[in-house]
Amino acid sequence: MAKKKLVISSGAGMSAESGISTFRDAGGLWEQYPVMEVASADGFRRNPALVHKFYNERRHDLLKAQPNAGHLGLVDLEKDYDVYVITQNVDDLHERAGSKHVLHLHGELMKVRSMEHPERVYQLHPEALDTTPDTIIDGDHVRPHIVFFQEAVPNMEPAVELAHEADVFVVIGTSLNVYPAASLLHYVRPGVPVYYIDPNPAPVPAGVHVLKMGASEGVAKLARILRGQE
Ligand code: APR
Repeated sequence: MAKKKLVISSGAGMSAESGISTFRDAGGLWEQYPVMEVASADGFRRNPALVHKFYNERRHDLLKAQPNAGHLGLVDLEKDYDVYVITQNVDDLHERAGSKHVLHLHGELMKVRSMEHPERVYQLHPEALDTTPDTIIDGDHVRPHIVFFQEAVPNMEPAVELAHEADVFVVIGTSLNVYPAASLLHYVRPGVPVYYIDPNPAPVPAGVHVLKMGASEGVAKLARILRGQE
C-alpha cells in the first residue's frame, strides 16, 4: 500500500531550537539588520559587499548549528509517510537531519551561483564559506543562491503541486507574513487535515489544528496524533 503524503511547510521557527535566529521574533534578524539593504535585489545592487558579508555571517552561524528534535522527528515520520518538506529556510538543517525531499522556496545559504550564468550553482565548503563581490568561480562572479525580496520564487510551482497532493499538511514555525509561501495552505484539498505548530501562531482559517508549542514538542505530538496514540 503506497504511503500517504505528509507535506511540511517550515519557516524560521523550525530552526529556532537549533540556535538560528528567526526574522520577526524579538531580537530577530530584521531587528539587527535593515532587511531591504541585506536581503533585497535593490540592496544587492546598491551594496553587494554588505550583502555578501551578511550571508557570510549567517553561514558561519549555520556551521555551529545542529538539526533539532523537530527536524529529526520529521525524518522519523518517513517510516510511516512519504514526507516532503517545503521550506522558506535557507539553512540545510532538514537535509543534515536526513530528510529525503526538501524543496527550498527562498534559496540555500550554503550555495552561490554565477552572476553571468545563473544556472551554474556551487556548493560552498566549510573551510571556504566567505564570498565577496570579487569572488570568482569558473571565471564568473558569484552571488548568494538566495531569493532576495523583489525577486521571483522559482520553486513555488512545484510547492503548490505538493500542497495539492498532500494527504496531511503541516505548517511549522512561520509567521505566515511572506507571500507566496504563506499561501501554500490554501492549495490543500478540502478535507485534508492541516496542522500548524508554532508557540505564537499567526491567525489561520478555522479548521486548522493549531499546536501552540515549539517545533520539537510539536512534531513529537503530531507524530503521536498521526499514529493514533493521542
Ligand atoms: N518552534 C516553532 N516555531 C517557533 C519557535 C520554535 N521554537 N520560535 C519561534 N517560532 C515561530 C514564531 O512564533 C514565528 O511565527 O517562528 C515564526 C518565525 O517567523 P518569521 O521570523 O517571520 O520567519 P518566517 O515566517 O520563516 O519568515 C518568512 O521572511 O524574511 C523572509 O525570507 C525570509 O524565509 C523568511 C520569510
